[in-house]
Amino acid sequence: MKKWVFINWVLALGLSTAAQDSSKKNSDSVYRPLIHFTPSTGWMNDPNGMVFYKGTYHVFYQHNPNASVWGPMHWGHATSSDLIDWKHQPIALYPDSLGTIFSGSAVVDHKNSSGLGTADNPPLVAIFTYHNQALADQKKKNFQTQGIAYSLDNGVTWKKYEKNPVIQNPGIPDFRDPKVTWLEDQQKWVMALAVQDRIYFYGSKNLLQWEYLSQFGKTNGAHGGVWECPDLFPMEFENKTYWVLIVNINPGGPNGGSATQYFIGNFDGREFKPFTAEVRWLDFGPDEYAGVSWFNTSQRRIFIGWMSNWSYANVVPTETWRSALTIPRELSLVKVKDVLLLKSLPVKELSSLIESQTKEIDNQKNPFRVQLTAQANADFSVEIFNDQKEKIILGYDKKQNQFYIDRTNSGKTKFYSEFGKIHTAPRISNDNLIQLDIWVDRTSVELFADEGLTVMTSIFFPNQSMNKIKFNGKWPKDKSPVITSLKSSQNTK
Ligand code: FRU
Repeated sequence: MKKWVFINWVLALGLSTAAQDSSKKNSDSVYRPLIHFTPSTGWMNDPNGMVFYKGTYHVFYQHNPNASVWGPMHWGHATSSDLIDWKHQPIALYPDSLGTIFSGSAVVDHKNSSGLGTADNPPLVAIFTYHNQALADQKKKNFQTQGIAYSLDNGVTWKKYEKNPVIQNPGIPDFRDPKVTWLEDQQKWVMALAVQDRIYFYGSKNLLQWEYLSQFGKTNGAHGGVWECPDLFPMEFENKTYWVLIVNINPGGPNGGSATQYFIGNFDGREFKPFTAEVRWLDFGPDEYAGVSWFNTSQRRIFIGWMSNWSYANVVPTETWRSALTIPRELSLVKVKDVLLLKSLPVKELSSLIESQTKEIDNQKNPFRVQLTAQANADFSVEIFNDQKEKIILGYDKKQNQFYIDRTNSGKTKFYSEFGKIHTAPRISNDNLIQLDIWVDRTSVELFADEGLTVMTSIFFPNQSMNKIKFNGKWPKDKSPVITSLKSSQNTK
């Protein structure tokens, strides 16, 4: 008798946890983006190791497969032929005795400089940070080192290098996120590494032995937090080569918490020298972080970020999975009043998602895009809302000459006291006309103003589908705002 009571109790418990699980899954599925990459289950933060090889874009990502909060980091993996439809792949890198696997990059070692492959079958090499929590718990300072892994089957399986780590820690607690690029003219690899609130550069001929070159950042940029996830790459503009250095920072972003800043200057193979000491932001919104670019995409520079903020990423209202990546963006240089700046726009591949112009929206059913042109001499806004008066407002404030995204009453906001706020970004362009290109998915808006000069990314969690839209402002003749409905991408769950 007792036994049966026990069995019934266990059964009831099992059923109720199953019921809870399925209700979690249901509530989570309404928040799962339709055109943004998300992990199938568990936690994701930074995109890592983005590399293009033999027609395939690889993205790896900081992943805790065992819980939907940050924890022991693995490299999750997904592939795509077009940057739109992503296919989940088995986990690429697991923690080992040297530590868990923090952020880093991947390269194609075309000339087999490392000797880890052959001339005919050059290796893909991933360069990442080992984080040793046991050493950190013992209050040791040297708990982060750099390691490598390689793949000889086009990125399908990965093997750790047996002599890891390749860079030992010199006694500095924040020592991480190696981003490696190839310098064709000097025939060497260069690594940008985030070290507290500086960038250290290292050089190597073979990806195995690294030499310290220089450091950057003492008197440049924003220093409100620790520097993380750098990226260094050349860009052509008016037949000249310039160097862009991306530096993510947390906290200390323009709207609080995490954000991506950048510098433009020269790099001679040893030292980076910026043209100005000013702080520039690649995305002013609260929800683009740890963004870096793909390796091996020829003249294109394709960027993707994590669409969240460390201030609240662990408590956003999804339970079975957490976080998405931004839409991929293409970076280019532009001059505004003789000042060289970086702009970013959605990659052209996204146009394959375009369905048709529409007047109706429903962010639960269809992602959509809003494009508008307005005079810069007056305020204007776009309100996306639902019957519960939950709304997200994007607009321009003429007096302050700034754009804003207001998510004060956007639905669930209480999980973090500062979530329900208005975020702002300066207008950088001087044109008389303002152009906005806004990409709206179930839980995100990405605003590209003035051809990508000012960008803002923001996430939100409405209690009900946002199915109404209102435009406030005067539009130039023949230029009323356009709404385009988008297809969902095939981001397998
Ligand atoms: C940035 C970051 C990196 C680190 C990783 C750990 O978001 O803190 O500096 O490598 O996340 O998951």
